[in-house]
Amino acid sequence: MALLVWLGLTAALAHGCLHCHSNFTEKFSFYRHHVNLKSWWVGDIPVSGELLSDWSQDTMKELHLAIPAEITREKLEQVAKVVYQRMDLLYRGKMYFPGYFPSELRAIFRDQVHLIQNAIIESRIDCQRHCGIFQYETISCSNCTDSHVVCFGYNCESSVQWETAVQGLLHYINKWHKEDIKTRNTPAFLISPGFTCLEPPLLANLTLENASECLTQH
Ligand SMILES: *[C@@H]1O[C@H](CO)[C@@H](O)[C@H](O)[C@H]1NC(C)=O
Ligand SMILES: *[C@@H]1O[C@H](CO)[C@@H](O)[C@H](O)[C@H]1NC(C)=O
Repeated sequence: MALLVWLGLTAALAHGCLHCHSNFTEKFSFYRHHVNLKSWWVGDIPVSGELLSDWSQDTMKELHLAIPAEITREKLEQVAKVVYQRMDLLYRGKMYFPGYFPSELRAIFRDQVHLIQNAIIESRIDCQRHCGIFQYETISCSNCTDSHVVCFGYNCESSVQWETAVQGLLHYINKWHKEDIKTRNTPAFLISPGFTCLEPPLLANLTLENASECLTQH
């Protein structure tokens, strides 16, 4: 029962980033409907069809990210452009030798996974190059809804800036802590080890100096 629920849930959530791009449905239904004449070997056709049908689910499985899969619209657009271009080029060819077509599809799939991983991680690193709380708009790869990523950046240039940043962080955590426990999402950055000293039980007695010390120690 638990397994069934889990399987149902993962299937329902398996959107897989590229799936969230507005041209995905049109593009991939074209690709799926035109696999038939792409290989001299009939065995390549079901294999290729399956690769295309499972594209989104497999993407989510392969991402293996320690952070939530949330991608900016600009980066999703860039990834989509590269993937569609390579797919369109592959589909321009008439008929390929046995094995070639599915192996090309697999190569495009793998490169796509790396592009998405890099895009997600790059945005996160850019976010941390700020000083203090910073956030940016994203799409959640698991369900294609608008989301945002919040991070805390250590890149402050003076002690005054740093103090303001820590103050902003404490304000942010306090506000977050007062939100409805049922609906609030824990921002990913708060889960990282450097922030354990700012957890709710300790938060109440935290001074600016304590918080600053805790952050610099970690
Ligand atoms: C998506 O489709 C629109 C309309 O067909 C096109 O103008 C746009 O370039 C496409 N985007 C990508 C990334 O292929
Ligand atoms: C979409 O998924 C994210 C996690 O990836 C979650 O935080 C958010 O609540 C989900 N939104 C909806 C409408 O299900």
